[in-house]
Amino acid sequence: MTADVVSHGSLRIRRATVADAEALSEIGARTFFETFAADNTPEDMKLFLESTWHPELQRAEIQDEGLDTLLACDASGAIAGFAQLRVNHPPPGIAVRAPVELKRFYIDKPWHGQGLARSLMEAAERAARERGAREFWLGVWERNERAQAFYRKCGFRTVGKQIFVVGTDPQTDHVMLREFE
Ligand SMILES: CC(C)(COP(=O)(O)OP(=O)(O)OC[C@H]1O[C@@H](n2cnc3c(N)ncnc32)[C@H](O)[C@@H]1OP(=O)(O)O)[C@@H](O)C(=O)NCCC(=O)NCCS
Repeated sequence: MTADVVSHGSLRIRRATVADAEALSEIGARTFFETFAADNTPEDMKLFLESTWHPELQRAEIQDEGLDTLLACDASGAIAGFAQLRVNHPPPGIAVRAPVELKRFYIDKPWHGQGLARSLMEAAERAARERGAREFWLGVWERNERAQAFYRKCGFRTVGKQIFVVGTDPQTDHVMLREFE
């Protein structure tokens, strides 16, 4: 994939390098906390954050051949949003042709409602097509209505459910799918 795949105003969307691991870990943990802390116990949040967001984990993810990590960066280089794609991981029990999972898709709060999410989705689709994908799928918490509304705007539809464990809490995700044209 080319280094700069899409621009959004003063932002540019590029592939992450290992030098981005710490900043990616910071925005990932912070956005997860801001979005979900009110609906989870502090203990479950702590367990989940500690097991998911750490610079060493993100360093490994960035180097993982099975993942694509895309960053939207502002003019100062700060990360305004990111997407992580995972290959070879089909949706549970759903017939698909050549799926890529949209494993994580986070926009920093000041950029919500600004159109950045749509630009990042376009960049993610381009990266997925370069992987030979014919559809995107994702899991989104049944209570995350803003994200579901955004995904529906992008053409995803709900096709099933899966369990996603936050700390000790097994939560129900909607599985959403979008075929590429
Ligand atoms: C999900 C996310 C990427 C979407 O980006 P965004 O810039 O907020 O998306 P948009 O504003 O373009 O679209 C969201 C839509 O939901 C609507 N919405 C906002 N709050 C809502 C709510 N509580 N319930 C239902 N819809 C809601 C908005 O009005 C908007 O629709 P509209 O354009 O028709 O007005 C972003 O909000 C985000 O990163 N959230 C935190 C992390 C997260 O939840 N990631 C997804 C994990 S699966």
